[in-house]
Amino acid sequence: MRDSDRKRWDGGDRRSPGERRQKDRRSGVDRRTKSENAAEKGRRSDADWQPVTIDAAAVASTGAEQALLAAAIDARTRAQAAYSGFMVGAALETAEGQVIGGCNIENATYGLTLCAERVALVKALSDGHAVFTRIAVVADTAAPTPPCGPCRQLLWEYCGDIDIILGNLHGPTGRVRLSALLPMPFDRRLLK
Ligand code: THU
Repeated sequence: MRDSDRKRWDGGDRRSPGERRQKDRRSGVDRRTKSENAAEKGRRSDADWQPVTIDAAAVASTGAEQALLAAAIDARTRAQAAYSGFMVGAALETAEGQVIGGCNIENATYGLTLCAERVALVKALSDGHAVFTRIAVVADTAAPTPPCGPCRQLLWEYCGDIDIILGNLHGPTGRVRLSALLPMPFDRRLLK
């Protein structure tokens, strides 16, 4: 950036945005750059949006679901989550009753992160399993951790409308059908 440009953007302040914010917190003055403010203005506020809540009280967990949750809790212990610190475990049940576990696997590029659900799914598919009944997802949080968007798409593709059992280290926190999380899926039926 030329010096004259810098003046137009931040009045010649040569501190990094991080340094600026630290100082400004102390002085109480908002000195964010125009570009930083513009980026915030372009974003929709979270204040008027609440996620769909899952009624945890409605979770009457069967023995089989408890076992699936236990497998997800076990898989979670192997999470490679050095960057986010957010360890997730999943356990996918086949129609024959086998359980395939998966954990999230992160790496230094961040963007190539594999979610626990997808790890369980690709492990199962590559071992020849083809029909699935439900998946359990576990994180160490009070609120349920539902599968992310890409995982919903892949679970829909290979599992269909399965039950998703959500839980934490202490037990179940919710249950939801995949079709409720992905009500208008794009799938092979639309490729005609
Ligand atoms: N993550 C999962 O493995 N599954 C989910 O359902 C949500 C998010 C992982 C991805 C990343 O490693 C970490 O959690 C934080 O997003």
